[in-house]
Amino acid sequence: MDKISREFSPSDEQLVYRPAVPDDNRAIADLICQAGGGLYEFLFDDLIPFVTASDIVAAGVGMSGGPLSYENCLVASSASAGIVGVANFFPADSLAEETFLSLVSDRFDHIGPMLRLRDRGSMFLNAIAVAGNYRGNGVGTHLIALTEAASQEAGLSRLSLHVWVDNVAAIRLYKRHGFVEVGIAELAVAPRLPHRGGSLLMRKILPTPSRRIAVA
Ligand SMILES: CC(C)(COP(=O)(O)OP(=O)(O)OC[C@H]1O[C@@H](n2cnc3c(N)ncnc32)[C@H](O)[C@@H]1OP(=O)(O)O)[C@@H](O)C(=O)NCCC(=O)NCCS
Repeated sequence: MDKISREFSPSDEQLVYRPAVPDDNRAIADLICQAGGGLYEFLFDDLIPFVTASDIVAAGVGMSGGPLSYENCLVASSASAGIVGVANFFPADSLAEETFLSLVSDRFDHIGPMLRLRDRGSMFLNAIAVAGNYRGNGVGTHLIALTEAASQEAGLSRLSLHVWVDNVAAIRLYKRHGFVEVGIAELAVAPRLPHRGGSLLMRKILPTPSRRIAVA
């Protein structure tokens, strides 16, 4: 997000919320990596020389079919700064652990408890992030509302997510939006994944849809 000026105050700027397209993949990958709090770097850095975790995530976002695919992303876009927010979500039941285990099993073994702790039958909000100086302006709140609406349209009545237990500000935000704690996946602290307390599964029962929220 280098192109966003640090002095720029985005609070009055009109953002467009829309489904992602393949060319959004770089900006989305940077935001997904921020949402992961080091998870993607833990999984993918140093696997292939000169290829970063963000490169690998961007490849996944740019392709059709996988969990990170642009097809599973909504973005907030600014005329001046491009993509400034993303929500990546898909049905929890569609996440095939085996797909990843065959690639880099020792790293995925480490986060196995997190992968196994799922709210089956729910929509899973895999990643939500807003660019640094756009935070605190309701962008995340609107992305959550759009994700809820998309979940209901897909016929799913629950939205779930994982959040690091030490991401106190995000947990507070989720609780304010009606998410409750369901369980904790305990993970050993690894030097390259230094989160304390494990990963918290949260869930929100969605209200019966009453109105449609426009995406664009
Ligand atoms: C969490 C996040 C998506 C919220 O988006 P947002 O647009 O700032 O959210 P809103 O403006 O709708 O709501 C602001 C709330 O988010 C909270 N928040 C959480 N993390 C924050 C952060 N890193 N910076 C600013 N606010 C943050 C604020 O504390 C505020 O809640 P409060 O009023 O209780 O203090 C965004 O802050 C972010 O990208 N954080 C870093 C990535 C991340 O942690 N993602 C979640 C992974 S589970």
